[in-house]
Amino acid sequence: MYEIFRSDCIEWLSSCRPHSLHAVCTDPPYGLIEYSSKEINKLRNGKGGVWRIPPEFDGKRRRPLPRFSVLTLIQKKAICDYFQKWATLLMPALAPGAHVLIATNPLLQSHVYYGSISAGLEPRGTIIRLYHGFRGGDRPKGAEREFPDLCVGPRGNHEPWLLFRKPISERTVAQNIRKWGLGALRMLEGEKPLPDVIPSFKTPQKERKIVDHPSLKPQHLLRIFCRALLPKGGIVLDPFMGSGSTIAACNAVGVDSVGIEMDEAYFNMARKAIPLLSSLYPGFSGQSLHIKENEKVAIEEPEQLILLEESGNYNI
Ligand SMILES: C[S@@+](CC[C@H](N)C(=O)[O-])C[C@H]1O[C@@H](n2cnc3c(N)ncnc32)[C@H](O)[C@@H]1O
Repeated sequence: MYEIFRSDCIEWLSSCRPHSLHAVCTDPPYGLIEYSSKEINKLRNGKGGVWRIPPEFDGKRRRPLPRFSVLTLIQKKAICDYFQKWATLLMPALAPGAHVLIATNPLLQSHVYYGSISAGLEPRGTIIRLYHGFRGGDRPKGAEREFPDLCVGPRGNHEPWLLFRKPISERTVAQNIRKWGLGALRMLEGEKPLPDVIPSFKTPQKERKIVDHPSLKPQHLLRIFCRALLPKGGIVLDPFMGSGSTIAACNAVGVDSVGIEMDEAYFNMARKAIPLLSSLYPGFSGQSLHIKENEKVAIEEPEQLILLEESGNYNI
């Protein structure tokens, strides 16, 4: 079961019932500005702004990505303040022991992290989504021929998801689980603990054909997360729902959820996309690191797939 609302999540959280949410899984605007109406209008009109097409290095044209290296110190401080305010409003709505998982970016994660812990969320580590990214690794701009063997930063091959927990209310985690059903993560099948590195790939075409949101996350990853976050049931919130991929993942996994999206066009996309995304990969409810059976994710994007061997070694 799920409910979705078109609203600013800050307003929505301000009137949320205490202890009514049991987990958060979300992919907020990393730099805050990229989903402002000014920048989104530029993206929709093909006018650039913070959204840039990554350089072509193999003849393939890429989708626009927000460029975070342009953010000023004041804008970065605003990220920290925003997440402090956001987490302060979220805290009373969460039941004790609830986990909060927030997607971020290697350049901006410290601002999201500091804002969140300042509001009282406990840090519980970082889960790395390993995949082939297109950020970074560029030669010095305007001097690519002069410095063919230099890059100004490493090529991004991971996306950090910050994991937090609202402090437990009971003396031990076991007592908290008995009282609230919260405080721990669900293991993968075969009693394998959720690892903090998850081999992933870019969002498959199959999912992009259903919904064209610029930051669509893959069902594979989201189903693993949504299953892990709610060991004993409850409600997952995605306050920055976009096209509803987290809500679709919850639906597929059999977990209740609430999604909030501010933008009208994305909200309408989500309404249509949630049932379609959740009907993909039947039988995969995030119980393992692989989408099993005959699903074609691997075949669509062979160069992107990272295969995890039984031994724990992986090949990119
Ligand atoms: C990075 S995208 C999420 C995309 C999502 N993961 C998906 O797969 O479709 C962030 C979304 O948050 C929305 N948003 C930004 N600020 C918001 C706010 N204050 N309240 C609710 N939604 C907001 C944006 O319009 C955007 O669609």
